[in-house]
Amino acid sequence: AATTRYEAETSPAVCTGAVETEWTGYSGSGYCNGTNASGAYNQFTVSASAAGTATVSVRFANGTTTARATDVVVNGTTASSASFEGTGAWTTWATKTFTVPVNAGSNTIRLNPTSAGGLANIDYIDV
Ligand code: GCU
Repeated sequence: AATTRYEAETSPAVCTGAVETEWTGYSGSGYCNGTNASGAYNQFTVSASAAGTATVSVRFANGTTTARATDVVVNGTTASSASFEGTGAWTTWATKTFTVPVNAGSNTIRLNPTSAGGLANIDYIDV
């Protein structure tokens, strides 16, 4: 099925940290550099045509060698978790895909980091 792209830096997305353009290769007008702290999330609001499951692909970069563990919180409930491993450089972007439950209509998808390093840099999600 066709996917919709939701940029991490574009409202109604919320970046708990700073929208930046320092590292090249991003889509849109930048990426979300979340604060280096547990709970410093990047939240998206996405639309689903029907209740069920949705495939979410996250484009990210992590220039460190330590994975950034992250809960995937859908409509306030932790639905999945992801580990955003090092990509080799902050300019090297990779994609991680997972499946989450969604309601028909509007849904929030929050990438909520669970360790002190915070989030990887997030470019967008495709849903
Ligand atoms: C560096 C880098 C940021 C990144 C941050 C981090 O400051 O320039 O883009 O977000 O490290 O560790 O998360």
